[in-house]
Amino acid sequence: MIRIFIALVPFILSLNANLNAAEDQSTVLITGSNRNIGFEFVKQFANKGWRVIATTRSIDSADELIEFSKENNNVIIEQLDITNDEHLRNLKKKYNDDVIDVLLNNAAYTPRYLSSFRGIDGVDHEATRKSFEVNTIGTMKVIQAFISNVEESNNGKIINLSTKAASFEERPEIPMMYSYAMSKAAMNSMVKTLSFETAEKNIIVIAISPGTVNTTLGMGLMGAIDIDESVSKMMVVIENITMDANGLFLDYEDGRVIGW
Ligand SMILES: NC(=O)c1ccc[n+]([C@@H]2O[C@H](COP(=O)([O-])OP(=O)(O)OC[C@H]3O[C@@H](n4cnc5c(N)ncnc54)[C@H](OP(=O)(O)O)[C@@H]3O)[C@@H](O)[C@H]2O)c1
Repeated sequence: MIRIFIALVPFILSLNANLNAAEDQSTVLITGSNRNIGFEFVKQFANKGWRVIATTRSIDSADELIEFSKENNNVIIEQLDITNDEHLRNLKKKYNDDVIDVLLNNAAYTPRYLSSFRGIDGVDHEATRKSFEVNTIGTMKVIQAFISNVEESNNGKIINLSTKAASFEERPEIPMMYSYAMSKAAMNSMVKTLSFETAEKNIIVIAISPGTVNTTLGMGLMGAIDIDESVSKMMVVIENITMDANGLFLDYEDGRVIGW
């Protein structure tokens, strides 16, 4: 009997270790995770062994994400249009009791109209409304839905993808991308305001610039970096931030502070 028990000890220990690993597994919820920067975040968090709740507004057009999730059972795909209250309610209900360690607000709308690069006369009102609906209000709604899940984490972080185009200090000094820049500046203001609440909840909230990245949004601009470089560097920043960063706007490259 004793011999059987001794023979089983390594098995029992390894079972225990696996259970602990599952219990210790951190969770990230990512919005807009079907393509470009959002999808790269899914891949990099998944490869680090995180449980990834990868949300996309249309599962039907998320082919690459679906393929990736088939090979990575730590990736769960969920539908979420961040402007859709029903989607938000359903998702909250499903994950109500889950701890979310990182809430990653990546989803955004970027108007593609040519007047993005023209003056005030050409700014499209509908595109401006939609920019605020998605980039500002949508991002805020995601936080409202899931901040209580982040509060349950011992190391909770709310990360919001912003842009230097929204920085008063570092924006390009040309009249461009009114709607996008305005909506992201408003999101930044929400981040700053929220930081006075998160300080009490032991949550770190930041805005982060991914740099100019080779996506359609980067539009082949000079000096644009590849998606994996941007995300790898943001991963380091996200991993290393402490409460000192709460309420700051940081750069992807090295976590330096960007002026609002
Ligand atoms: N690329 C850059 O150079 C750059 C520079 C500065 C900041 N950023 C920021 O970095 C983030 C990612 O950029 P990206 O270049 O990867 O953007 P992207 O290629 O335009 O992708 C945006 C993502 O957001 C999703 N999305 C749009 N509206 C949504 C909604 N209402 N609900 C849920 N998801 C929605 C899109 O889904 P669909 O596929 O369904 O449209 C897509 O997955 C954005 O916040 C962007 O503002 C990017």
